[in-house]
Amino acid sequence: SSFADLGLDELQRIASNCKACRLCEQRNNVVFGEGNTNRPLVAFVGEGPGADEDAQGRPFVGRAGQLLNSAITKGMGLKREDVYICNVVKCRPPQNRAPLPDEIEKCSNYLFRQLEIIQPKVIVTLGQPAQFALSGIEVGITKLRGNWQNWRGFKLMPTFHPAYILRNQAAKRPFWEDLQAVMSEVGLNK
Ligand code: URA
Repeated sequence: SSFADLGLDELQRIASNCKACRLCEQRNNVVFGEGNTNRPLVAFVGEGPGADEDAQGRPFVGRAGQLLNSAITKGMGLKREDVYICNVVKCRPPQNRAPLPDEIEKCSNYLFRQLEIIQPKVIVTLGQPAQFALSGIEVGITKLRGNWQNWRGFKLMPTFHPAYILRNQAAKRPFWEDLQAVMSEVGLNK
């Protein structure tokens, strides 16, 4: 992909000035990603910043973030800073709409390089847009979740988005089952 020679700091510096799509117009902060950048067991990839993330410049710090934090700490027994957390699009879509295909295409160049640099043991995509950005498969997340994929040699587990789980209690158990499959894969005790 593009940015092939860049390190993470340089990539973030370029992203922080990015004007490749319309999402730059209304953003307060570019939300690049954070966490363990040195071969973490897991890299979580969400959809895009919401209002809280746009205000703070950090991924998953709102309500969906609290659910993700609890899955990471209480569920998986890790600390949030042990994993890497980022999004497909780095700027908030207006009214939290789903990112458009051209926005995903432009911004996924950052995501691809990010993942190649940090070399996670497993990638967990949260929700449909993240799954689509990495696999290009236009099938609903309900069908795809729980089934391992391969992205450029990395194991990838698609699952539901935490915001979806907040609205649909029935999604909680499959979400947890998917995280348990990830835990087995990376050698975490259940
Ligand atoms: N939802 C996302 O997809 N990403 C965030 O960073 C926060 C909420």
